Amino acid sequence: MKKRVFSGIQPTGDTHIGNYLGATKHWAARQDEYDNIFCIVDLHAITTPQEPEVLKAKIREVTGLLLAVGIDTERSIVFIQSHVPAHSELAWILNCFTPMGWMQRMTQYKEKSKNQESVSTGLFDYPALMAADILLYDTDVVPVGEDQKQHVELTRDIAQRFNAIYGDTFVLPSPVIPDIGARIMGLDDPEKKMSKSEPGSNHAINLLDPPDVITNKIKRAATDSLRDIVYDENRPGVYNLLVIYELFTGKSRQEIVDHFAGKGYADLKKELAEVVIEGLSPIQKKYADLTADPGYLDSLMAKGAEQAIPLAEKVLTRVKDTIGLG
Ligand code: AMP
Ligand code: TRP
Repeated sequence: MKKRVFSGIQPTGDTHIGNYLGATKHWAARQDEYDNIFCIVDLHAITTPQEPEVLKAKIREVTGLLLAVGIDTERSIVFIQSHVPAHSELAWILNCFTPMGWMQRMTQYKEKSKNQESVSTGLFDYPALMAADILLYDTDVVPVGEDQKQHVELTRDIAQRFNAIYGDTFVLPSPVIPDIGARIMGLDDPEKKMSKSEPGSNHAINLLDPPDVITNKIKRAATDSLRDIVYDENRPGVYNLLVIYELFTGKSRQEIVDHFAGKGYADLKKELAEVVIEGLSPIQKKYADLTADPGYLDSLMAKGAEQAIPLAEKVLTRVKDTIGLG
């Protein structure tokens, strides 16, 4: 039997090449190896304030982009989190088995709540909902970028704690992080992870950016005052550009360094813009086709929820029986 994969993506902000290179590209590429479930996590999105109309549009956009990068609803279940009520229900139950101290250690919460006066309880509790997402499907493997590793490890800890009390109930999931591209950095500040919530207009390359925007963003990307084009993690700007080039071309590091020997940053940026534009072009075209008929995505998502609900209900019932509910 194939191993079960589960992963999720938030319908907030603009989906960028960090999401693609660190996560969704791998989900698409390895669909035949696994039994896959992918989720657009709208309940996670509301842990920070959202405009209703914008949220609605973003749910559709992220759904379209998942399919455009190659997720195939014939080979993977794709659905919207709030369409499957078991996620909220299991999240509540897991809350009651998660020590506050474990949640307080989560670095994403610490960072996101910094300098904020009124963060929601939901933001603090976000990892319990993520644990519910994963554990509801007896998931073995969770492919994510580096920033989500700690949350998957917490999920495993929660499952282990529950199993220690009640006996084997949950399958223990493992995170899978790509060797290269697990942490694509911001173009404007290569010390910071490329993020949907970062404000600067030159921070991220979005999957739907038109060619001229991509060229301009890369042109303005931060580098350094040195000259040679080599992989050196102590030169994070150039290193990040080279990693993006490597992932879009599929060339080896040696080939890339040889290719740019004697050339300058302007050449690197020009060629990088070309390969990114070329790499995103089929995704953008497919996205335009998929979203031309507004009813099409809705029907696929209705089918996805229909497939997910019985799987989730089965595990939820197992959990409720185990703890004496119902
Ligand atoms: P999110 O946009 O936070 O829902 O993230 C969706 C997926 O993209 C998750 O697996 C993240 O770990 C991954 N991801 C987000 N930002 C980056 C980044 N800068 N580099 C690599 N992976 C990322
Ligand atoms: N928290 C993840 C992120 O921001 C999204 C997510 C929600 C997720 N539930 C998940 C990822 C379950 C993997 C598995 O990227």
